[in-house]
Amino acid sequence: MTTDNHSTLFSPLTIAAPDGPGLTLRNRTILSPMCQYAVTKHDGVATDWHLQHYGAMAAGGFGMLTIESTGVNPVGRISPNDLGMYSDEQVDAHRRLVSFAHAQGAAVAVQLNHAGGRASGNPWLADSHGGSAPIEDGGWQTVGMTDQSIAKGYRPTTKLDKAGLAEIVQDFADAARQADEAGYDAIQIHAAHGYLLHQSLSPLTNTRTDEYGGSEENRFRLTREVVDAVRAAWPATKPLGIRISATDWVEGGLDIDVTARLMRDLVRHHGINWVDVSSGGLVNTPLQPSGPGFHAILGAQMKRALADTDATVSVVGGISSPEQAETMLRTKQVDAVSIGRAAMRNPHWPAIAAARLGVPRENIPAAPQYWRAEW
Ligand SMILES: Cc1cc2nc3c(=O)[nH]c(=O)nc-3n(C[C@H](O)[C@H](O)[C@H](O)COP(=O)(O)O)c2cc1C
Repeated sequence: MTTDNHSTLFSPLTIAAPDGPGLTLRNRTILSPMCQYAVTKHDGVATDWHLQHYGAMAAGGFGMLTIESTGVNPVGRISPNDLGMYSDEQVDAHRRLVSFAHAQGAAVAVQLNHAGGRASGNPWLADSHGGSAPIEDGGWQTVGMTDQSIAKGYRPTTKLDKAGLAEIVQDFADAARQADEAGYDAIQIHAAHGYLLHQSLSPLTNTRTDEYGGSEENRFRLTREVVDAVRAAWPATKPLGIRISATDWVEGGLDIDVTARLMRDLVRHHGINWVDVSSGGLVNTPLQPSGPGFHAILGAQMKRALADTDATVSVVGGISSPEQAETMLRTKQVDAVSIGRAAMRNPHWPAIAAARLGVPRENIPAAPQYWRAEW
């Protein structure tokens, strides 16, 4: 608990961009991307559910929202009920979300993803447990780094050749252009949680023998190409982010030394401005640890590895206590916190956290309509 009414968590944060002043957030709370599986027509277009869900988070005081995993092409969506960024109708629906969130004072990022062998999944709603969605329920043949199944319950993928990988790189660039048209302030490239880029980075899943597999340099290649293509298509005045699984939690897999090396290169030479630290998610690997702030140490290690750069480092995982988040920022472990499930339980997490940390009433980031809620 702070005693001086000054909270670091509720101080503004500027995420740098290659040109211009960068993007200033009203505070250091970032909504973590969370699939809603709420696209009803399997067309990748956001619905009223998305508007009310993200609208509540913006009204609840987040500095920035990260909109859930959004497929850069139809085959790259995590499930048939996921958002896309490859049609005009999708862009129009994204624009509506962004403009409402902006009106509430929140900045908005979109997480661009190709799910590789974990695409075409059953949406993890109610009684469903992952694995491939049957073709008759809207599923499709997936593509990946190899012709293997990525995990139990997922169909084997069609192995991408060089031309296929180049098309995906182009799809990321096209999606970035459309994200700009929709008004997004930042992009987060999804390189975590067992999706295509993570599949390509990890030696546990990338067994290719061409220039996209084998050595670290080769396994980094696809992610570097995606980052370069997105950076070229995305305004230099806007920040570009990436989410990374900092470790696979498995001997012989990715670890913090490897991923920190990759992030240093992407920040210093490829225009990444924001690194969001997560872990795990290669589906057949052991469950990652959980509990309060379970990635805090990885976030701090990544921050240290990037200390001589102007990159913003955020960390996700089990952050629900305002006091813990405040301490993580005051002690400079990271620059911002990403909040996932705590925000689903309570979309007003930031406003309530600000009140609890003693932020003066006039600085509590609640919508004016809710001022009389007596924070
Ligand atoms: C329902 C749900 C959907 C999720 N979807 C995504 C996603 O689209 N992209 C992603 O990177 N992580 C996704 N995650 C992971 C969260 O962003 C977050 O990293 C994880 O829940 C740990 O943070 P927390 O303890 O604050 O919830 C999802 C998590 C949940 C619970």
